[in-house]
Amino acid sequence: MTFKFRAGATPARNGATAGYEVGMTISLRAGLAAVIAAFLGTAALAAASPAISAAIAARKANYKEIGGAFKTINDEIKSGHPDFNSVRPLAKDIAGRAALQLKHFPKGSGPESGVKTRAKAAIWKDYAGFTKLQKDMVTSANALNAAATARDLSAMTKARTALGATCKACHDKFREEG
Ligand code: HEC
Repeated sequence: MTFKFRAGATPARNGATAGYEVGMTISLRAGLAAVIAAFLGTAALAAASPAISAAIAARKANYKEIGGAFKTINDEIKSGHPDFNSVRPLAKDIAGRAALQLKHFPKGSGPESGVKTRAKAAIWKDYAGFTKLQKDMVTSANALNAAATARDLSAMTKARTALGATCKACHDKFREEG
């Protein structure tokens, strides 16, 4: 670009040329700054310890599975004629995953980790409060599992509502919008 401009123009040392070249330099610098910023961003990600990154990935995957299973169970309940055979393993899966979640929240795995996470720093400031909600989720998930095993639609509906309330209570307090 610069070469072409120079070749076409009389060796002008006029203001326009100078201005053009200054403009080029600035945009080049901006480009370089973006590249460096991107590099530093990657470096920050790489800085999180493998254990921290693994914990964050594990809890996200767990919640995702819990979310999917919970939605299916909800849809089944809404149908009025739930297929208990399909609901039962999903309820069991939620209970099992819920019981594992706490260990995927080690100290240092919040926003300060540099890893993409919606877990708020408040989790570690009010760890007792967070633990209680996580335990409430396990209790309701176990009740849902028992109701599904008993093929009891009314108990299942009750447990579903209680479980849904724990998701919301925890997300409202401890999960970043996103
Ligand atoms: C005790 C707190 C707590 C409870 C209870 C809880 N969650 Fe979450 N959930 C979180 C936090 C914190 C995150 C963000 C995790 C992260 O980004 O590291 C999250 C993330 C999620 C995600 C996004 C996962 C992803 O792909 O990144 C889904 C889906 C989800 N939760 C569903 C549920 C459902 C459904 C329930 C109830 C059955 C539930 N959660 C109960 C705290 C909770």
